[in-house]
Amino acid sequence: MKANTLRYGMIGCGMMGQEHLRNMALLPQAQAVAIYEPDAGMRAAALALAPHARAVDSMEAVIDAADVDALVITSPNFCHADQLLAIAARRPLPVLVEKPACTDLASVSRLRDMLRQTQQPIWTAMEYRYMPPITELVKQVHAQTVTGSAVMLSIREHRYPFLEKVGDWNRFNKNTGGTLVEKCCHFFDLMRLIMQADPIRLFASGGQNHNHKDESYPEGRPDIIDNAMVVLDFPGGRRAMLELCMFAEGSRYQEEICVVGAQGKIECKVPGPTRFWPADTLGEPPVAQLIVSPRHPAGPRTLDIPVDPQLLAAGDHNGSTFYQHQKFLAVLQGQGQVEVSLADGLAAVVIGLAAEHSAKTGEVVDLTQGPWSLV
Ligand SMILES: NC(=O)c1ccc[n+]([C@@H]2O[C@H](COP(=O)([O-])OP(=O)(O)OC[C@H]3O[C@@H](n4cnc5c(N)ncnc54)[C@H](O)[C@@H]3O)[C@@H](O)[C@H]2O)c1
Repeated sequence: MKANTLRYGMIGCGMMGQEHLRNMALLPQAQAVAIYEPDAGMRAAALALAPHARAVDSMEAVIDAADVDALVITSPNFCHADQLLAIAARRPLPVLVEKPACTDLASVSRLRDMLRQTQQPIWTAMEYRYMPPITELVKQVHAQTVTGSAVMLSIREHRYPFLEKVGDWNRFNKNTGGTLVEKCCHFFDLMRLIMQADPIRLFASGGQNHNHKDESYPEGRPDIIDNAMVVLDFPGGRRAMLELCMFAEGSRYQEEICVVGAQGKIECKVPGPTRFWPADTLGEPPVAQLIVSPRHPAGPRTLDIPVDPQLLAAGDHNGSTFYQHQKFLAVLQGQGQVEVSLADGLAAVVIGLAAEHSAKTGEVVDLTQGPWSLV
């Protein structure tokens, strides 16, 4: 191990934890050294990807390990809040915590209290920010090169149903926070980033129309929604919309993001995980695109945004897990700042919970005061 290698402890190491391990392995100065993973199969798969790491038998053993410099939390959603609180109380190491930071309003409040008392660097893993086509779109929107000031934003995700997980934790709202938290906190985070503001109000319509309806578990039948539309108002008469459909894996692109301002429009199209593309029948997977459409002179231009094949192969998220780790490593080395704070992660959870509430009740939710306040 090189003298300046940063050593990581993993808390939970299933599908996403293993994507983190594959991407950390591409960074010469990052190395996983301790892994707490309760499931024997997942533990063996994780150790195969990180042969220098050892398995330990509790979260506390990872936190206390003298050779651990930073922690990565990739346990199920409902574990994150208690694990963050335990780390802050026991040994406040820098943490990269997978989204969503928590699953209910009570935990949002506990974590906000914690944040008032700690200087600990905590980065909420919001991989979508670091997908190359989305990074480029955000850069151009903020520079106002194509759109001028952004007025309308729409994010559409058409994808495959939730995958099977260890213990089927992702089939129930109580474990995930609900689909609009579990899946869509990414998109609410992107909306805050792109619009450079917090939304002030939202309305959502959503339901469980197709997926998991014939499944049954000891806890009962899955109660997670599989499609939704959410409309959000932003200050200054600006607005955003999310369209989620989780029975649309036949699509060429998984995410389509469109921003319009007075001067023009910019869009990006992002393919889903390469491993799900039916290459045997359809050939090479689609390449991400950025489309710029100014009003004067009118004329759309399409640019391909290819992603390094090695990074595509290391995960399901268009190379973003690598770029995020690169930046998290820079924080650990004292050469960078946390870009997605825990406060950002909590804001995305509150918007997701508010959208779940709106979809259930038909209410418009005020995000500026009361239980759904974003600050
Ligand atoms: N950012 C993204 O795009 C993205 C994508 C997928 C998953 N995720 C997030 O990553 C997290 C893990 O999801 P996953 O898909 O890897 O699920 P998973 O079920 O494959 O992995 C979770 C692992 O945590 C282990 N675990 C269970 N209880 C634990 C505990 N108390 N402490 C530590 N580990 C425990 C399980 O045995 C399992 O192996 C979730 O929060 C999920 O939302 C994020």
